[in-house]
Amino acid sequence: MTAPKALVAGNWKMNGLTASKKEIEKLQSMISENGANCDVLICPPATIIGLLSGKGVEIGAQDCHMNISGAHTGDISALMLKDLGCHYVMVGHSERRSDHGESNDMVKSKAIAAQQQGLAAIICVGESDAERENGETLDVVTAQIKGSIPEDAIVKNTVIAYEPVWAIGTGKTPTADDVAEVHMVIRNLLMDRFGDEGEMVRILYGGSVKASNAHELMSVLNVNGALVGGASLKAEDFYGIIATYQ
Ligand code: 13P
Repeated sequence: MTAPKALVAGNWKMNGLTASKKEIEKLQSMISENGANCDVLICPPATIIGLLSGKGVEIGAQDCHMNISGAHTGDISALMLKDLGCHYVMVGHSERRSDHGESNDMVKSKAIAAQQQGLAAIICVGESDAERENGETLDVVTAQIKGSIPEDAIVKNTVIAYEPVWAIGTGKTPTADDVAEVHMVIRNLLMDRFGDEGEMVRILYGGSVKASNAHELMSVLNVNGALVGGASLKAEDFYGIIATYQ
């Protein structure tokens, strides 16, 4: 079995207005001129998903509700995202887990909702600073993986993003050896879960990825792409990470 095609995904978080369409168009022209040897995804705020066309760049979402419709003021369902042309949705980002108290069970329910609508769920995991200091990284990540992947998930609709919470937006990154260790544990869990096909599930690394460190991080065994926050907001910065795969 070969390695999966890499995915470089941008998570815009709560950034981006209607004018950000121009930034996506800039990225699309950079990709059409210079190429991209990986899949490229942007997850903008839900308010502008419908304005963006995905030529050369997939458009995805940052979260979805666990139900398809109903009395859930302010929430957005996977069906609505599918209706807008999304093929991916992130679930269980650490900011959702901490800001909104999302448990592994809730993350799993959201992933089920996404996968039932034909979307791929990007299931995010990662340890906090305190957990890392206590030597709990592998236990925390293992529990998150086991608790968040739906029973009916298949390789095609599952992406894992390992994002150590302490590396998000801080400019700090784990060493390549640390990333390799965690990604190997995740890969083994995926192989336990999916058999040999578990090799084909993409495991993204996220947390302070930028053009200057992308090559080192993306070269680590079992790193099949990146989930990028701050450095995905500007087309030039983001393309610098995409170009790692040229
Ligand atoms: P930064 O790349 O800004 O550290 O954010 C990472 C992240 O949370 C992506 O989901």
